[in-house]
Amino acid sequence: MQSFDEKDARTRRAARTIGRREFLRAALASTGLAAAHLSGETLSGIGHFAPGLIGLRSLTGPSEGSTISANTSAVTSNADFFIRNHFTTPRINEEKWTLEVGGMVEKPVKLSYSDILLASSERRHVTLECAGNLSGGAGVSTALWSGLPLASLLKDAGVRPGATTVIFHGADTGEGDGVPAGTHFARAIPLEKAMDPTTLLAYEMNGAPLPPEHGFPLRALVSGWYGMDSVKWLTRIELSQESFQGYFQQERYVALKSNGGHEPVTRMRINSKFLRPLNDEEIRSKAYRIEGFAWAGERKVARVELRFDGGGAWQPAVLGEEPAAMLWTPWSYEWSMPRAGEHSIEVRATDDAGNSQPLVRDPDRKDDYELNSPHRISIKVVL
Ligand code: MTE
Repeated sequence: MQSFDEKDARTRRAARTIGRREFLRAALASTGLAAAHLSGETLSGIGHFAPGLIGLRSLTGPSEGSTISANTSAVTSNADFFIRNHFTTPRINEEKWTLEVGGMVEKPVKLSYSDILLASSERRHVTLECAGNLSGGAGVSTALWSGLPLASLLKDAGVRPGATTVIFHGADTGEGDGVPAGTHFARAIPLEKAMDPTTLLAYEMNGAPLPPEHGFPLRALVSGWYGMDSVKWLTRIELSQESFQGYFQQERYVALKSNGGHEPVTRMRINSKFLRPLNDEEIRSKAYRIEGFAWAGERKVARVELRFDGGGAWQPAVLGEEPAAMLWTPWSYEWSMPRAGEHSIEVRATDDAGNSQPLVRDPDRKDDYELNSPHRISIKVVL
């Protein structure tokens, strides 16, 4: 798995949003939508993409002096949202694209893009983190997603008794990185999670059609679970009573134990990061507001604490918003009168079930997923 660029994602409020109706009218009335997507432009004009980009887009840090406003969820713009693609981005013509729902269902369904846009939809702020994100890394972002609840589609199709597994198939395929030739990206989740109202089939991100790299025309959004299950460029959803044997289910995203045991990686763990200061930053003031985010997957963040210079007591940070499940929570800490010189700072969060970020990585783990030990930065105070 490729590691993430260490730089932070710049967070800012969502750019101009367009309503679903407006979006639909534009999509259906013109051929411009396809053209806009192929050139990497979205309808609202936000987001520019390099063709065929694989891995993580290089990201910039927050602009100097920027702060996170309280009382609103800090959303990552589409241009700054992290990207994790195993293969080259497939370019999909939405006029030819269809989504099939098959396998153990009473009535197999085939939907066009306009069927999807016309279905009743929901909007949710959801934080997505890649299972391979490094501690403090840029592989975590938040967007306002719009889409249809997967449960409503599955109810229409009629799930047959005995089905336990929902498999998402993506259109992307390729080789390399140990992947057998001809493999396409596919992942499965349990039926129970698929029926959860927070599991969406998303077609809009921050009010704009999904950018190509984020799954246009449609992706799964499995809220609170690591990003690999939020399969992009969806073409088929399959109901099954067997456990899924696909390559990305069995060979990747698996927690490996030293005794040879392995378990699937699923729910996002409690985690946190600094937004400011950045690692190696020089601070030239006697009072400084340290800021960051904490997130807890399906649970809520209960507290965030900071520790200075590798010792002493953990100091409570202030949460900037009422914590919500599936969504990161901004936090801040007013650091006054730091002494001049080098400092190290660590941040650690705890969720509402009492799970804290582990101070050291579980020595029993032989894989590189779920890296949630505290983000540590070194900075210099120059007075
Ligand atoms: N879906 C497809 N079809 N192909 C992929 O490579 N990568 C997964 C997931 N969905 C992937 C995919 C992984 S590992 C992550 S972390 C998220 O997409 C990242 O979503 P993003 O690129 O929109 O941030």
